[in-house]
Amino acid sequence: MQGAIWRAIGAAIVIVAGAIAQPAAPATVTQAVFGKMPDGATIHIYTLHGSGNLHLQARIMDYAGIVMSLEAPDRAGKMADVVLGFDTLPEYLANPTQYFGAIIGRYANRIANARFTLDGVEYKVPRNNGEASLHGGDNGFFKRVFKSRVLPDGGLELTYLSKDGEEGYPGNLTATVTYHLTDANELKIDYAATTDKDTVVNLTNHSYFNLKGAGSGEILDHDLMLNADRYTPVDKNLIPTGQLPGVAGTPFDFRSLTPIGSRIEQNNEQLKIAGGYDHNWVLNKSGNALTLAARVEGPVSGRLMEVYTTEPGIQFYTGNFLDGTVKGKGGKVYARRSAFCLETQHFPDSPNHPAFPSTVLKPGQRYQSETVYRFALAPPPGRKQ
Ligand code: BGC
Repeated sequence: MQGAIWRAIGAAIVIVAGAIAQPAAPATVTQAVFGKMPDGATIHIYTLHGSGNLHLQARIMDYAGIVMSLEAPDRAGKMADVVLGFDTLPEYLANPTQYFGAIIGRYANRIANARFTLDGVEYKVPRNNGEASLHGGDNGFFKRVFKSRVLPDGGLELTYLSKDGEEGYPGNLTATVTYHLTDANELKIDYAATTDKDTVVNLTNHSYFNLKGAGSGEILDHDLMLNADRYTPVDKNLIPTGQLPGVAGTPFDFRSLTPIGSRIEQNNEQLKIAGGYDHNWVLNKSGNALTLAARVEGPVSGRLMEVYTTEPGIQFYTGNFLDGTVKGKGGKVYARRSAFCLETQHFPDSPNHPAFPSTVLKPGQRYQSETVYRFALAPPPGRKQ
């Protein structure tokens, strides 16, 4: 299948890297032309071949750092592409506001009333979601072309300079996002950023997952664990109220593996506001160590995904705004709740909530964040611990 795609795309450059560090199966990256932007810029697609025993494979673009596909095996060894997306660049350009697989910046999720105050100065950012600014504005990182570099260890480094004032945000912000498929069956994403003026930053990746395979129906049958005792409830505009209530006794309690759909239709005000889950959970952690945030098990297939992050929060979104009008890869229809997102992040609207962990970045400081999506196979039913 992959070979066919490559033949269709055309000549590919193969770069073999990491032969010394990973003697068993060197991580490899292949590069090919994916398409052209309206201004003529060439967009590349990179295929990362994982060196772990699950043989993960990811295709990632230098347009918005989009994870276009991520293939992982089921218990029988059958590979499936577990992320939503499109087959061609024009489709990505025509459907930007699903944010399929894209890097989100400068600010993931919402900023209330599309403004914030920093050092006594009020900054206005694009109002693109009711009264709020969502995912960095109309022309956030999800629409930007990154500079790309294949790393000697088989990783892919993407860099973008967001100029002072872009989408209303202060400071020249240089952001670097690095993707690796590790020998531990992980897609590892490292984010870094520096600025020359005080600013705010909150980067994430907006992949939509379905562990049965993209376009294989609802995800309500997946089991989810979120390592969080508290969450950030929202007002009717999906802006955090500022409270951090406990999840115990609510449909937001995912502290042990629970089917995503088991409580999603409950008569709960928060679920009604969002049309399902579209909330930030406060991860159980102190400091910014890399810790387990989430575990998801797909039904039947045995595909299991864990999310680890250095971030304090995670947005769990059940694709409530997918409505079946978008056709994705292979012409498959992406219906409501046919995918879930687990977006690691600082809390939404933090610039307007001094009590939330700060998203301020100052000159001389380095923003650093790491998220790992680790794949494994769940024990067969009946053999669960
Ligand atoms: C937000 C949703 C939004 C979705 C993309 C998520 O990160 O929380 O409210 O609809 O992104 O459209």
